[in-house]
Amino acid sequence: MKKVEVTTSAIIYDDFSQLSKDDQSLMEQAITARKKAYAPYSKFNVGAALLLDNGKVILGNNQENAAYPSGMCAERVAIWKAGSEYPNMIVKKIAITAASTNTKVNKPVGPCGACRQTLSEYEINQKQPIEVIFMGEEGAVVKTESLLSLLPFSFDSSYL
Ligand code: THU
Repeated sequence: MKKVEVTTSAIIYDDFSQLSKDDQSLMEQAITARKKAYAPYSKFNVGAALLLDNGKVILGNNQENAAYPSGMCAERVAIWKAGSEYPNMIVKKIAITAASTNTKVNKPVGPCGACRQTLSEYEINQKQPIEVIFMGEEGAVVKTESLLSLLPFSFDSSYL
C-alpha cells in the first residue's frame, strides 16, 4: 500500500487586467459569448471561447431548456461546435466566464466535472495541453497549464 499526493498548480491573477494581452482578448470574447447565453431558468450565464492553433476562436454559451437536463454548458457547446467544424483541430486555450442576474459572481467559476471530462478527450487526442483560464464576472482569474491538471485519476479510452 502506498499513499500518493496529487498536486496541481494554477496561477491566480488578482483580476482580468493582470492577464496577458492575448488572454485578455480571449476572455473578452468569452464575455461576449456569455452575454448571449440562453439561461432563463438558472439566470447563470456562462461564456466560453476556444482558441485553435489555426487562429480561429470558437465561442459557446450555456443553452438551457424547460426540460432542465436537456440544457447544455457553455464549454461543451463550444468544444463540440469546434470539433464539428474542425475535426483535426488543436485547441490551445479555453477562456470561461460566468455572471448571474441574481447575484454578483466575483470568484472564478471553473468548468463542471462533465465539461472537464469532455474537454479531456480532446486534450488527450491532440497530445498537447489545453490552457484553461476562468473567472466570474469580476475578481480573480485562474489559469492552469492543462485540462488534465483539473482532473486527476480521470477516465479515458485506455480503459476500454
Ligand atoms: N454551466 C455552464 O455553462 N458551465 C459550467 O461549467 C457549469 C454550469 C451552466 C449550466 C446551467 O445552464 C447553468 O450554468 C447553471 O448550472
